Amino acid sequence: MEVILVRDAAEGALTAARYFKSQIQKKPTSVLGLATGSTPIPLYRELIRMHREENLCFSGVTTFNLDEYFGIAPDHPGSYRFFMKQHLFDHVNLHPKHVHLPDGQTQNVESHCAEYEALIKKGGGIDLQVLGIGHDGHIGFNEPSSSLASRTRIKTLTQTTVNANQQFFRPGEQVPRHVLTMGIGTILDSRQCLLLAFGKAKASAIALAVEGPLTAKCPASALQLHPKTTAIIDHDAASLLALREYYREVQTNKPEWQRV
Ligand code: F6R
Repeated sequence: MEVILVRDAAEGALTAARYFKSQIQKKPTSVLGLATGSTPIPLYRELIRMHREENLCFSGVTTFNLDEYFGIAPDHPGSYRFFMKQHLFDHVNLHPKHVHLPDGQTQNVESHCAEYEALIKKGGGIDLQVLGIGHDGHIGFNEPSSSLASRTRIKTLTQTTVNANQQFFRPGEQVPRHVLTMGIGTILDSRQCLLLAFGKAKASAIALAVEGPLTAKCPASALQLHPKTTAIIDHDAASLLALREYYREVQTNKPEWQRV
């Protein structure tokens, strides 16, 4: 996995946004995989700025989000559709028909998840997938012990994840315990992945994901099998990486033609 060390979340967001811009410019009909949570918020802010000030055009772009809570309406302020509207969709020229999230109110989970997979395939597959990482090493909501070959399905959140997500709900309001999430196999099918991690709280998950053994105990470690994943990690989140100096050398010596 390629590792890019950045100073802080602001620099990480700029770096990730450059990957998105380059992808969209190369292929205006790109299929983007999107994530929610606090990590990608500065990235989305930067993409909105690029749209406004640098004419970055989303009109041909299709998006698929990693996940959605099960059992809440799309207009619920805690839903991931609401989050995406607030942080990206309402501010760029994405066509509403090109925007996809799992339906948290589906009556038939199994067939809906199979349809979501089929829709990604029909769209030509995901060109660039952005990922955050949970404190327990989850990507999407593939919690520890998830099958490394899993596809979109319903999952039960761990208590740690429920607690971490409480910030997006009103005090006292219950965070849903179930989500529909792309599987690890679905994520690994993306042509390119960007794993973002900022802050001390992500340091142990990042050390396991990037340098630890390949294990369902840390679902993000499955990215070691992906041929084109770039991890963009700030100083604090990188603090437990043993090969930090090596990653810096690789970055410094990266050939011009490989720079984004
Ligand atoms: C969200 C998602 C999750 C988050 C992860 C980190 O769509 O798939 O894997 O990326 O829980 O969340 P934050 O960024 O809030 O620390």
